[in-house]
Amino acid sequence: MPDSVVKLSPAQFRQHFPALDAAPHFASCSQGALSDHLAHTMQQLTASLMKEQAPWGTWMDKVEEYRARSAFYFGAEADQIAVLNCASEAAFQVVTSLDWAGERNQLVTSDLEFPSIGNVWRAQAQAIEVVNVRGLSEALFAENWIPLITERTKLVSVPWVSYVNGTRPDVETIIAHAHSVGARVIVDAYQGAGVVPLDVAQIDCDFMMTGNLKYMLGLPGIASLYVHDPRSTEIPAILTGWFGRVNPFAFNADRIDFPDNARRFEVGAHAIPSAYAGVAGLDMLDRVNPHEIWNHVIELRETLAEELTGLGYSLDQPSDPSHRGPQVAIISDDPERLATELARSGIGTSPRGSRLRLSLHGYSSEQDVKTLVAALAGLR
Ligand SMILES: Cc1ncc(COP(=O)(O)O)c(C=O)c1O
Repeated sequence: MPDSVVKLSPAQFRQHFPALDAAPHFASCSQGALSDHLAHTMQQLTASLMKEQAPWGTWMDKVEEYRARSAFYFGAEADQIAVLNCASEAAFQVVTSLDWAGERNQLVTSDLEFPSIGNVWRAQAQAIEVVNVRGLSEALFAENWIPLITERTKLVSVPWVSYVNGTRPDVETIIAHAHSVGARVIVDAYQGAGVVPLDVAQIDCDFMMTGNLKYMLGLPGIASLYVHDPRSTEIPAILTGWFGRVNPFAFNADRIDFPDNARRFEVGAHAIPSAYAGVAGLDMLDRVNPHEIWNHVIELRETLAEELTGLGYSLDQPSDPSHRGPQVAIISDDPERLATELARSGIGTSPRGSRLRLSLHGYSSEQDVKTLVAALAGLR
């Protein structure tokens, strides 16, 4: 969308999420709130089936719209985006496109990694030596990655924002060092994309993946993989299918050709309902200025953290605000209990391990924060 289009303020944006006044939503790190636009878009999917019996043309257009809109949102070209079903699949496509034979056979990851991505790395253990940056706090600092990223490193995997506690590692410094020793970098932007501004050209990563259900305001079932240079693939995909072909509609079972763009990483038929939802989420995000949304989130996050600390809650929060993301994490012996109690008042949160994760978006308001703080005060 051109910059000249007037963007919605956070308060105007919130009006597109009609359920929020009755049910404050602090669970965007798990699933974003339902917008009126997403609800309406899902009806369009049903309408497409009522109008045409097998609407493949309409559906493929929707997938292409998802690709183009994702590219625009992240500052990429459409040819640099592969449309996949989940981030684990994206991770697999990337790791198996690289040649791990020889001395350069190490993959550097960290304790900040989401399990399914870390699982994909470790499932390749026959060919790959996985090197781990230990410690949630330690992994925030590039100085703890740099000694482990050497001429033996082929790929570095770093999250844009960690799912554990919403913290943000020094991604750009890690990327700069990795490139200086000839290693590539994949950024898992699943947590944070949609709320923490991200431009792939600016951070200069080689790969970036994200799904659309959380801060991207869509639903599960679709993920985009950004590939800086799709022609630099070292090994053709071993997980492939008709959508990974130059022309999927050539229907040729005995010929495996690969396009020169990121579509070479695609597999079978796309998750069409999720493509509809993904585009609806991207539409919503186009209506706001990402920097305004991020500043709004920072303000609310700081207020929430201050209030909770005042109530005596212990937070898992880095001392340097530049390492803080869109989430405030309470350390608790029983986060499930806290989440259940809050849910009784209609407040959505996300418990994981020993933390209650409270995440903010452009649609969050000061009143939401007050409501949450008052409910948590009653639970001390
Ligand atoms: C950082 C991060 N990466 C990846 C995922 C999801 O991976 P997948 O799409 O494979 O389910 C999540 C959450 O669901 C996440 O928080």
